[in-house]
Amino acid sequence: MTIPEAGEPLATTNGAERVRKRLAELALIGGESGGGVTRLAYSETEREAHRRFCEWASSAGASCEVDGAGNSVAVFRDGAPYFLIGSHLDTVLHGGRYDGAAGVIAALEVAQAVGELHRGVRAVAFAGEEGARFGRPTIGSSLAAGMLDEHGLGKLRDVDGTTLLSAAAGVGLDPTATPSWLGDDVACYFELHIEQGRQLETGAARLGLVDAIAGSVRLHFEIVGRADHSGATPMRTRTDALAAASELVLAVEEAGRQYRSTVATVGRLQVKPNNVTTVPGEVTLWVDLRDVDPDLQRRAARRVLDSSAEIADRRGVRITPDVLSEQPPVVLSAWPRAILYEECRARGLAYRVLSSGAGHDAAVVARRAPSAMVFIPCVEGISHSPREQASPEDIALASDVLSSTLRRIDELQRRG
Ligand code: GLV
Ligand code: MN
Ligand code: MN
Repeated sequence: MTIPEAGEPLATTNGAERVRKRLAELALIGGESGGGVTRLAYSETEREAHRRFCEWASSAGASCEVDGAGNSVAVFRDGAPYFLIGSHLDTVLHGGRYDGAAGVIAALEVAQAVGELHRGVRAVAFAGEEGARFGRPTIGSSLAAGMLDEHGLGKLRDVDGTTLLSAAAGVGLDPTATPSWLGDDVACYFELHIEQGRQLETGAARLGLVDAIAGSVRLHFEIVGRADHSGATPMRTRTDALAAASELVLAVEEAGRQYRSTVATVGRLQVKPNNVTTVPGEVTLWVDLRDVDPDLQRRAARRVLDSSAEIADRRGVRITPDVLSEQPPVVLSAWPRAILYEECRARGLAYRVLSSGAGHDAAVVARRAPSAMVFIPCVEGISHSPREQASPEDIALASDVLSSTLRRIDELQRRG
């Protein structure tokens, strides 16, 4: 059966089978021969996945609308305030089939099966959550929350130089025309996601309940030296942009090592002219720096920026830094998590409270409305890779827990 009935339990063989089929169907959109998936933000494949989401929602009787940012919202039960359940449908380059997709499929399961409530119920597939293409994460949810303006949007470009605005226009979207719809009407937001770590896999708990989500700073550096002949230019007269960039990469690593909670990565680097026999003249690199502690996050970013100035001075290269985005860490509301604890205890289900090193739309929504996240295990904690793997049974189980939790909250809020 393709659609759960209202009130139907989800942690069943049927439920897991439905989830498995939908995961497989989505994985065909942008699917690659090595088993990976590429559905970059504001690409035709991302849009196709959103169309599939709306088809699934419509076949369950919901109305589905897409806003200017490309977020798809399916109304299963009208009314405000409403419960919002969702995640995202874009992936990183050569990513996996569970990051984002698991939460969107679960959202449809929960919204359909939760049954009669006093609150409204909506499922959402956010657009452009991965910062993979434009360097900035959570584009769709930030626009819906009124937290990303035209100036912030205007400077976003992908590695080919395509601006976010023209990529969006190419798939029929206009992010500048996104109303800020994400606000007080949301009674609570729920997101199911793979853990992307190993705490669940190595412990007894089957579910993770998230208390905090790390923030991130994305930096972009343009390093300009002088392109020159690699044979005829003496070492002492070179201004090698890549050698300078290499020092910066190590400075980023050092900044990430300074405090236990900080992580810092240079995951993308472009070299010009990228020719074996030319001293590199220009390098562009992107830094992703994260922490659950806002002070340490700021300090680490400052340290990287200071290092870049020092390297530029010492090596005589020009380094132009740009802060693409800065998102503070977020502590999620305690009360929906407390009701999730109750639900798990009532089922005798082992859970673990943990914080998320990865970013999520929930971190954005949490600044507008109470939000909760449920993690399921993923094999060896691997994610952002074709080797990402999780179990449809765990998705079905977590969906069932969410569905009961929504009913509990609805009843509690109805009683006042
Ligand atoms: C989003 O998946 C991230 O990179 O944290
Ligand atoms: Mn994700
Ligand atoms: Mn991701």
